[in-house]
Amino acid sequence: SRAVLRGSTSCLRAANRNFSSSSQRGHRVAVLGAAGGIGQPMSLLLKQSSSVSQLALYDIVGTPGVAADLSHIETQSTVQGYQGDEELDECLKDCDVVAIPAGVPRKPGMTRDDLFNTNASIVRNLVQACARSCPEAMICIITNPVNSTVPIASEVLEKAGCYDPRRVFGVSTLDVVRANKFVADAKGLDVSTVTVPVVGGHSGVTILPLLSQTTPSVSFTTEELDALTDRIQNAGTEVVNAKAGAGSATLSMAYAGARFVLSLLKAMSGSPDVVECTFVKSDVTDAPYFATPWRLGKNGLEQNLGLGSLSDYEKSKLEGEVLPALNKDIHKGSDFV
Ligand code: NAD
Ligand code: LMR
Repeated sequence: SRAVLRGSTSCLRAANRNFSSSSQRGHRVAVLGAAGGIGQPMSLLLKQSSSVSQLALYDIVGTPGVAADLSHIETQSTVQGYQGDEELDECLKDCDVVAIPAGVPRKPGMTRDDLFNTNASIVRNLVQACARSCPEAMICIITNPVNSTVPIASEVLEKAGCYDPRRVFGVSTLDVVRANKFVADAKGLDVSTVTVPVVGGHSGVTILPLLSQTTPSVSFTTEELDALTDRIQNAGTEVVNAKAGAGSATLSMAYAGARFVLSLLKAMSGSPDVVECTFVKSDVTDAPYFATPWRLGKNGLEQNLGLGSLSDYEKSKLEGEVLPALNKDIHKGSDFV
């Protein structure tokens, strides 16, 4: 096979252990915010996948250039660029999956919640367009604050009469990607064999890595638990500070976003045993939205694999820190709509 395909397979192998190189029915996938720091590299990774037959790229600026550029890549999928409000509905028409990384990123000193005022209405408007043009699409929300933008998206769809909780996902995959990498590095393990479930939300203390459920089984001292938990919870801030005003994680997020979308496409095409952690409507805790590992299927969320057995350390963080902060963020989102 051609070099680009070999390259794409090895590039995505670790990102998605469920990724199949065999050709499956193609899907129309839209990226909203496609000209941005996440949007461009994520679109590049999606362009390399044989699960995507049409890539529909939308932004308020810059999409003709990004689409022209990506369209020259020698893979099967077609690429179309759409720019501005008047082209949004056309972009979304017949989409199977919509990924949304549109909106502003953090600068040093900001919390994700500081993005609420700008990003809440961006997500609301984009999801309203999904309700009009692709009411059955899977909607994958990357825009922060995810703890609030997922409730916003859900409320918008509910109001529009097309809410299916199995089809709305907060993309928290980057927390799992980071946890896998940090644990593998700390313990000298081959990262391709490491899986750490990360539950809760996607912001500060609401991010709860379940280190006690790491596979392969690993033991940690209390100091290691504290240090790893803290690093995973604050990894986004680590990148924001390192970028020093130029934005937040884009490349690792593109990788994580592509991993999630490709897992979803694989499950939609009928592959069994596709599991990802994702922040969704949930009844496992008293928070109405909560990330846990899910088995994905043809219609999106299929089986909640739940919290499993928590250590005392994790139980106390869940009750004392995760749920109070998460419930606040969720209600802020729901109340907005
Ligand atoms: P960016 O500024 O580089 O790109 C954002 C893009 O969104 C820009 O191209 C902009 O033109 C576009 N945009 C703005 N308003 C729009 C609208 N109404 N419709 C369509 N597009 C619009 O930012 P980025 O670094 O790509 O980050 C995007 C978002 O993703 C931020 O909110 C950031 O916090 C979030 N993020 C989430 C995660 C996660 O784990 N879920 C990780 C990293 C970043
Ligand atoms: C991340 O975790 O990297 C993102 O949520 C971006 C951020 O603001 O930290």
